[in-house]
Amino acid sequence: MRNLLSWFVGRPTQTAGGDLPAVRQLNDLKGKRVLLRASLNVPIENGKVAETFRLEQALPTIDFLKEQGAKVIVIGHIGREPEESLEPVHKALSKMTEIAWGGGLKEAAAVVSALRDGEAILLENLRQDARESAGDESLAKELAALADIYVNDAFSDSHREHASITGVPMYLPSCFGDGFLREYKELKKAMKPEHPSLFILGGAKFETKMPLVERYTAIYDVIYVGGALANDIYKAKGYEVGTSLVSDIDLSKNTIIEDPKIMVPGDVVVEDGDGKKEVGIRAILPDESILDIGPVSLKELDALVSEAKTILWNGPLGNFEKGFSMGTEMLAQSIARSNAFSVVGGGDTIAAIRSLGLTDRFGFMSTAGGAMLVFLETGTLSGIEAVLKNPIK
Ligand code: 3PG
Repeated sequence: MRNLLSWFVGRPTQTAGGDLPAVRQLNDLKGKRVLLRASLNVPIENGKVAETFRLEQALPTIDFLKEQGAKVIVIGHIGREPEESLEPVHKALSKMTEIAWGGGLKEAAAVVSALRDGEAILLENLRQDARESAGDESLAKELAALADIYVNDAFSDSHREHASITGVPMYLPSCFGDGFLREYKELKKAMKPEHPSLFILGGAKFETKMPLVERYTAIYDVIYVGGALANDIYKAKGYEVGTSLVSDIDLSKNTIIEDPKIMVPGDVVVEDGDGKKEVGIRAILPDESILDIGPVSLKELDALVSEAKTILWNGPLGNFEKGFSMGTEMLAQSIARSNAFSVVGGGDTIAAIRSLGLTDRFGFMSTAGGAMLVFLETGTLSGIEAVLKNPIK
């Protein structure tokens, strides 16, 4: 089995490991202006925050900074469209802690100068300014000019080379918030699993998850590929996949399709013009679409879960947008019954676990989706590297 270290050593973006600079190492914060990059990209339905998990995880650092008498400037992004606003997030957050609405960047300098010790504000969606996603230096400088210290508590956004993630730390002494450090620690732990170990990977877009699948066959005992990702494996094996979602990738010549460690559901839930039904994977018809894992495979997965000592899970097993959440919910219940150390990430999966009231039965629930995958693959994130170049002393 390939040693985990062997693929870290020599990777250019690798962190040295060890302790990361932490917000709680800061003393004498009274009157200091702290720019806190938080993870605020939450789902909004009918103008209201539909899932507060990320906001709850942001609270300890916000409250710590306020208690220490800092002037706290919270920044973040929401959605991908420039017209989206963080105002609904502000509404939800202000039910959890006292925080004022700071408005857009234009007014920010004046709003910050009026802040008193121990007060916090939330600024408007940074993605309203195209310079944020472009990682523009001038925006990074503008943001840095608002503060004395930078704290990154946005693990879930730190795979992005945005101005507020990789730019600001060039200009301010920087460190990480509580939520970030917990993500780092728990995901590192999952990267060295106790055996038997089970990695469940769902969702879509095989092309982005391929390196992860390849690497984790050397680390985990079983990689269970579900969701639309499995469709690519069925297709590569020559099975009919009908109108199912598939990636722009051809796995037919890839050794992973024959790797005995990689498992896929043997039965699925499909839908055609007449409704849904459960079928074996070799019985899909050209007008059918695979939308969830089937009951036989769920039993098989339940057995793997009950034997595992470590379970790592990212991505749903079915198509949530079309309401196929049953497989994901059943898997969540299975893991909740097990005694394994479990780490889970991805918005839909976390929402399902929370709605079932199973949060306490999981070892660690990550706020991250894409960032979790990048971290698992490389052991670091752009946002980590940026802070490490200019850490607090
Ligand atoms: C996420 O929700 O995964 C992060 O906030 C990143 O959002 P993005 O994929 O729109 O960059």
